[in-house]
Amino acid sequence: MTVISSTIEGRIAIVTADNPPVNALSQAVREGLVREVQAMAADDAVDAIVIACAGRTFFAGADITEFGKPPMNPSLPDVVETIEATEKPVVAALHGTALGGGLEVALSCHYRVALKSAKVGLPEVMLGILPGAGGTQRFPRIAGVENALDAIVSGRHISVVEAHKWGAVDQLVEDADQLLPAAIKLATEKVSEGPRRTGDISIDSGKYDPAFFNAFRASVAKKTRGYFAPEQCIKAVEAAVNMPLAEGLKAERRLFMECMGNPQSAALRHMFFAERQVSRIPGITKETPRRDIKKVGIIGAGTMGGGIAMNFANAGIEVMMLELQQDALDRGLKVVRGNYERSVKSGRLTMGQVDELMARFTGTLSYDALSDCDLIIEAVFEKMEIKKQVFAELDRVAKKGAILASNTSYLDIDEIAASTSRPEDVIGLHFFSPANVMRLLEIVRAEKTADDVLATAVDLAKKIKKVGVVAGVCHGFIGNRMLSKYGWVSAISVISGNKPEEVDAALFDFGMPMGPLTMADMAGLDIGYMNRQSIGRDNYDTRAFDWQDKLVEAGRKGLKVGAGIYDYDEGSRAPKPSAFTENIIDEESKRLGITRTPKAAGDIVERAILALVNEGAKILAEGKAYRASDIDVVYANGYGFPPFRGGPMHYADSLGLDAVVKKLHGFIKEDSNWGTVAPLIEKLAAEGKTFADFDRENAA
Ligand code: CAA
Repeated sequence: MTVISSTIEGRIAIVTADNPPVNALSQAVREGLVREVQAMAADDAVDAIVIACAGRTFFAGADITEFGKPPMNPSLPDVVETIEATEKPVVAALHGTALGGGLEVALSCHYRVALKSAKVGLPEVMLGILPGAGGTQRFPRIAGVENALDAIVSGRHISVVEAHKWGAVDQLVEDADQLLPAAIKLATEKVSEGPRRTGDISIDSGKYDPAFFNAFRASVAKKTRGYFAPEQCIKAVEAAVNMPLAEGLKAERRLFMECMGNPQSAALRHMFFAERQVSRIPGITKETPRRDIKKVGIIGAGTMGGGIAMNFANAGIEVMMLELQQDALDRGLKVVRGNYERSVKSGRLTMGQVDELMARFTGTLSYDALSDCDLIIEAVFEKMEIKKQVFAELDRVAKKGAILASNTSYLDIDEIAASTSRPEDVIGLHFFSPANVMRLLEIVRAEKTADDVLATAVDLAKKIKKVGVVAGVCHGFIGNRMLSKYGWVSAISVISGNKPEEVDAALFDFGMPMGPLTMADMAGLDIGYMNRQSIGRDNYDTRAFDWQDKLVEAGRKGLKVGAGIYDYDEGSRAPKPSAFTENIIDEESKRLGITRTPKAAGDIVERAILALVNEGAKILAEGKAYRASDIDVVYANGYGFPPFRGGPMHYADSLGLDAVVKKLHGFIKEDSNWGTVAPLIEKLAAEGKTFADFDRENAA
């Protein structure tokens, strides 16, 4: 199959790529582009060239599947050089998403026509690299240094309407069928003028001194913490400002190769594909029927219920919120409106749009009002008896075929399902707080959940812009089951010698958005306390948690009361080390006969992350997660695990599972409460394999 072909209309050659699904710039595409552009440039019957793509999009970038493999000629820089050097005008016809290498190809063309709905962008930074085919040199020249710097460092997708204002797109067309004719027309008009090369544009370097770049660095420092590629991107744009094109391109290549050699690039690539794997579910195909979801009922108008409801309203779906008392309902709807109004202040919504969104909400105090909902999600108090009562009501009022979902974070969905007469319609939809913001949705497949219910939930996750990961029924599913081990390790690290702020700093420096003890304060220490009270002292490691229980008993329930593991100034969320807590820790360690010996930051991190990995491997072996990469997606999107480390399972692979096994045995020797090394890790390590190998071998 030829992925690149040419036709000639009048005296204009149209070079068309057809490499589904996204016209990635694979070796065959690159080779074809060079071949056809050179042939058309040499053809006397041709005055100008249009480059266009068939299918859903202009080139969406380099072929990411080729990364990490030996390079194949021609390289992308060869392609863009060939195009830019052509002596006949070359026009790019953009539709869909011209991203990364795709935009670089477009920038090497002499003119650009775009369908108004198209987007452009240089998202390489999200893959841990930088635009390596001249994007960092040409985009600042044509779009302006400020615009290009922001685009390259954020990686965001940019509407061509915006790019047109910057001068990076010459002409916009409204309808898809106008695109090619407009590109041909522009090419014809430019024959007499000849090529206009982006690389020839000069930049007024005097305007962009080191202070300009340092101010930019400071403005993105918080967002880019821990990432390698953003600084490389900034350096490349500095090169564009301070060097002639040829030298700038050399600097870009060097910075690009440094990114490629950094482990973050492999980790971020892993995350890219991992997020696209999650919707591949054994037993579910395109042919599996789906149920129609037009109206969603939400039980509980608290923070969680309100946040969940917003996702559906945002996606244009009607929502019915149920509460037991009118004032709770009014309060819940007011909070939702308040959240939307905050977006008006930040300029993301208009008041008109808020009214439109709020019109999708209806409130009720009666279960009977849920009878026409296609999906009902309960977000009530986390207690089995209460959940069962709610599901009994739902069983009574819900129409036939309605999906009944629980937002429980821990409880047994099989047991909940068994309390209805229709367990096949029951599923877990576990949202993460704040539910209107966090991207993760754990979709819990219970034993009797029907395939069409699961397929509908997976599609719905995409529709409401979540990344939906399917989990099996077990206490805490994927995320919280692993988190309990992480919480235990951090509590043990404190009682055995480190200060809470040392444990938090170690994990913050590893890349977590906050340390586990700050997180515990935010969630509320009383939640763990009540949980421990209910399971009884014989069923958990009391040494790890007694110091936290003492804090709760002293009224220090966490951030919400202004005191927990840390102190908080009135109205502040910033944790401050607490002398009271330090004292409790001292007393408790003495009572337990522990000689407190602080560990180095690296040792703290190793224990915390390998506790996640060990439990993750058990979850995987039990089939409660389909892939190790699904676990990575859960941790990156629900718990802030730094994407540049690729999630806990990828991180373990990067350490080598042999080394992981040795470490885990060492920890168990130190403290038997670590339990056992997951047999799956032992097995993979013995075979010299990784979690990635496990995923490949078990691919559905
Ligand atoms: N290379 C290889 N495969 C790619 C790809 C790429 N650049 N982009 C997307 N795909 C694949 C996806 O893996 C997916 O495959 P499966 O169907 O087998 O899972 C398929 O194409 C469709 O992708 P999506 O499901 O993501 O489709 P979408 O419509 O939701 O999104 C998109 C389309 C916006 C183009 C999105 O896929 C995307 O953002 N792609 C990545 C774009 C990118 O980062 N480009 C820069 C690459 S690096 C580069 O170009 C620089 C360089 O100089 C080396």
